[in-house]
Amino acid sequence: MTTQVCIIGAGPSGLLLGQLLHDIGVETLILERASLDHVLSRVRAGVLEQGTMRMLVTAGIGGRMHAQGLVHEGFAITRDDDIHRIDLTGLTGGKWVTVYGQTEVTRDLVDRRAETGGVTHYEADGVALHEFDSVKPYVTCRIGGEEVRIDCRFIAGCDGFHGASRRSVPEDAIRTFEKVYPFGWLGILSDVPPVSHELIYASHSRGFALCSMRSRSRSRYYIQCNAGDSIDAWSDDRFWTELRRRLPPGIAESMVTGPSFEKSIAPLRSFVAEPMRFGNLFLVGDAAHIVPPTGAKGLNLAASDVHYLFEGLRGHFLERDNHLLDTYSSRALDRVWKAVRFSWWMTTMLHRFPDQSPFEARIMESELAYTLGSEAAQTALAENYVGLPY
Ligand code: APR
Ligand code: PHB
Repeated sequence: MTTQVCIIGAGPSGLLLGQLLHDIGVETLILERASLDHVLSRVRAGVLEQGTMRMLVTAGIGGRMHAQGLVHEGFAITRDDDIHRIDLTGLTGGKWVTVYGQTEVTRDLVDRRAETGGVTHYEADGVALHEFDSVKPYVTCRIGGEEVRIDCRFIAGCDGFHGASRRSVPEDAIRTFEKVYPFGWLGILSDVPPVSHELIYASHSRGFALCSMRSRSRSRYYIQCNAGDSIDAWSDDRFWTELRRRLPPGIAESMVTGPSFEKSIAPLRSFVAEPMRFGNLFLVGDAAHIVPPTGAKGLNLAASDVHYLFEGLRGHFLERDNHLLDTYSSRALDRVWKAVRFSWWMTTMLHRFPDQSPFEARIMESELAYTLGSEAAQTALAENYVGLPY
């Protein structure tokens, strides 16, 4: 088989890049290790920056997102029993975010690719990347038990943190930066109305909690838990009781509870790989970087990477100009590090760290007190939360 851009991974990064390229007439082929059902069953964060929405609209999938997405002009931060609203729209001169689940974004992209005749091979086993230092890279894998070889001009590694792309780069060509946080997030989905029409980020002496949603009748709630906790130790009752304890009484009392239909524990990590280009292999999204979910930057960063890479590939194929392709890594990393800093900052300010010294704990209390009392600090928070420009 041959294609112009072989894309590894059919998560949001791979599907969005694939659609944008397909729409300007650049041939793509996507290889995905998992089944389509598996890809569509993953539950992830659901806050879209306006820049991400613009990209999705350009890829032709604005309809359902605009109809079902919930516009949020602010969110709350609670500190033990106090409640403070962050007025995103007021502080940023009119910007907002949209709550629309990543699972829905992926579904819309999958449907769009099928409608427009894009090719995705699911359950592609043993994907291996070859000769990406040359102008004739190729990818091998097994599809339906058969060995296949895909010759291409470029490879886009959109295969997430555990994918094959980053791992095929020689160790001495890549530098990685990592911080693992000493706790996890226990999250549930439940068909109960959200406790508030805006998100609530709760900083509490018992640990962090987040009240989010997927729709007006479906809630997504999280609590900070121990890194080694087992899901079996967390019955629905125990979860609801703990969540309520971390919220101000007025909010806790009005919360409607019900059975959960999804429950999982996610570790928290910050990770960046530099650079994001190796010859004719480009890393995109989670393949190159991970942020903790506080602030919901993961999908939005994937979208800005796709923007920079798409511009570069368009320049190469349509205008015979490699300038933007050659600057992909530095342009993408500049925005990546700002989002990594912001996600680390929100995480550090709002969680309880078991390994923190009393001094560090006081500094973080003071960081939160300063933020909640200063319009200048809230403006910086809001500017980052709605998404830095690109
Ligand atoms: N071969 C082929 N596909 C692979 C391989 C492999 N060796 N390894 C992983 N994949 C697939 C995964 O099954 C997944 O479908 O690559 C895809 C990567 O998707 P994501 O992990 O969703 O990463 P990305 O598309 O960059 O999306 C970024 O999604 O993971 C969240 O927090 C993240 O919100 C962010 C966004
Ligand atoms: C979510 O809805 O899953 C969500 C929202 C905001 C975050 C993280 C996760 O910061």
